[in-house]
Amino acid sequence: MDKKLKNKGKVCVTGASGFVASWLVKRLLSSGYFVVGTVRDPGDAKKLEHLWGLEGAKERLKLFKADLMEEGSFDEAIMGCEGVFHTASPVVGISSNPKIEILEPAVKGTLNVLESCKKNPSLRRVVLTSSSSTVRIRMDIDPNVPLDESVWSSTEVCEHFQVWYALSKIQAEKVAWEFCKENNIDLVTVLPAFVIGPSLPPNLCSTASDVLGLFKGETRKFEFHGRMGYIHIDDIALCHILVYEHKEAHGRYLCSSTVMEHYELASFLASRYPSYPIPRSFTKLDRPSYTYNTSKIESLGFKFKTMEEMFDDCLNSLIMQGHL
Ligand SMILES: NC(=O)c1ccc[n+]([C@@H]2O[C@H](COP(=O)([O-])OP(=O)(O)OC[C@H]3O[C@@H](n4cnc5c(N)ncnc54)[C@H](OP(=O)(O)O)[C@@H]3O)[C@@H](O)[C@H]2O)c1
Repeated sequence: MDKKLKNKGKVCVTGASGFVASWLVKRLLSSGYFVVGTVRDPGDAKKLEHLWGLEGAKERLKLFKADLMEEGSFDEAIMGCEGVFHTASPVVGISSNPKIEILEPAVKGTLNVLESCKKNPSLRRVVLTSSSSTVRIRMDIDPNVPLDESVWSSTEVCEHFQVWYALSKIQAEKVAWEFCKENNIDLVTVLPAFVIGPSLPPNLCSTASDVLGLFKGETRKFEFHGRMGYIHIDDIALCHILVYEHKEAHGRYLCSSTVMEHYELASFLASRYPSYPIPRSFTKLDRPSYTYNTSKIESLGFKFKTMEEMFDDCLNSLIMQGHL
């Protein structure tokens, strides 16, 4: 270990090879943690190459096989860890079988991970990656009152519009709060807005490919997203670590920089990156407007990066990886 780095202890990151988790692993390693990552297939060298290439990985990264749908699957990885960052969850927009593909892995998977946490006497805190979609999907939003962590999205609205991903995140976060209360586990949840920035995994996840689509002139995905908050991937990794390390951190933390309509985002991107065919014509959606109150995470000393930083970094990485 680099002599200048303080040993920060051992933590587990579930779904370690994902878009958000890979950046979290990178930040945890660079700040001195020993990281135990869980992945579905530790033998898939191609999918894990980017993790083994991170600074400190050879000395302080260990990968275990674990599946959200297998009871006890996370026991070995979590045992002995002081912190658990539970990020693994299906991030799928469209599904022909949402119960099996999205809802069950998110909810049962969260309970499986927490059951393993319960068995671990070294556990100090669990940080669950939830989503801003657990607060913003409601019909009764007052545009003059910014949404904060005290609000929950409506499960009825999610069901009505078949927003299964958001429903899975609401149900998973709610069962986590219940389980942790009953079992005296210190839980903090992070509610990221739409995450933007360089992808460490070479295969783009669902949200990163939506952004790529926008640079290629596709409208469909972003039309569906509508109004959205955005956050830099480095910021979301740092927010996870901040709420893990900060003794007073508690409850839910909404993490978002700027909120924009999809057509405002397109116009911002088109003027900043004029050589790309960013679409100009979008349908305006009849959905409630909202802003976010992120003073809770800011009160821990956090400052969000700008839209310019997010998209400059994202675009550079899309070019470097040959996607554009
Ligand atoms: N990206 C965003 O804009 C955004 C915004 C808000 C919240 N989030 C949350 O951030 C977390 C990570 O999402 P992401 O954007 O990084 O997407 P991602 O790259 O698709 O990561 C999802 C991770 O979950 C794992 N996973 C899915 N089903 C699993 C199962 N049955 N067993 C074990 N692992 C499973 C995946 O493993 P495989 O690699 O094996 O498929 C992958 O590592 C999720 O909880 C998501 O809800 C993301």
